[in-house]
Amino acid sequence: MSSCRLAFLLLTLSVVLAPAVGTLALEPEIDPATGLKATGDWELVRNNCIVCHSTRLITQQRGTAAQWLAMIRWMQEKQNLWQFDPETEQRIVGYLAENYPPQADRRRAAIPRSLMPPNPFAAKEQPSQ
Ligand code: HEC
Repeated sequence: MSSCRLAFLLLTLSVVLAPAVGTLALEPEIDPATGLKATGDWELVRNNCIVCHSTRLITQQRGTAAQWLAMIRWMQEKQNLWQFDPETEQRIVGYLAENYPPQADRRRAAIPRSLMPPNPFAAKEQPSQ
């Protein structure tokens, strides 16, 4: 009987704890100084990307590797961001695309017309919807 209880207890514990352990393993720590996910090549990003603006600009952004690279190219062309050697650039882009990838659900669904206030700029002739 007691071994049966023990088995039940262990089973219960594993069911309760497994998701928590899984979450811990998946979510990297946040570096308190920069707010960046402290994993992989994050220090390269810290060393190269925090001089001109807050890391909030980075951590609130999402993108594929190509999109991140395009943002870097834009900063290099327009904002005086320096050139990286190809390996450093690849590692920075890799870190960004892996930790701040595109997310389908980042925007809320549109509010239905029926729940919106009347549009004061709508032409008078238009029926209010
Ligand atoms: C030499 C200065 C400089 C450095 C270094 C720099 N940036 Fe920027 N970045 C800018 C400027 C200027 C802006 C525009 C800020 C604004 O709109 O207020 C910007 C904007 C951004 C944005 C917002 C883009 C958008 O479309 O809204 C992101 C994301 C970003 N930077 C990421 C990075 C990353 C990643 C790095 C490191 C590879 C980096 N920045 C390094 C100057 C820099």
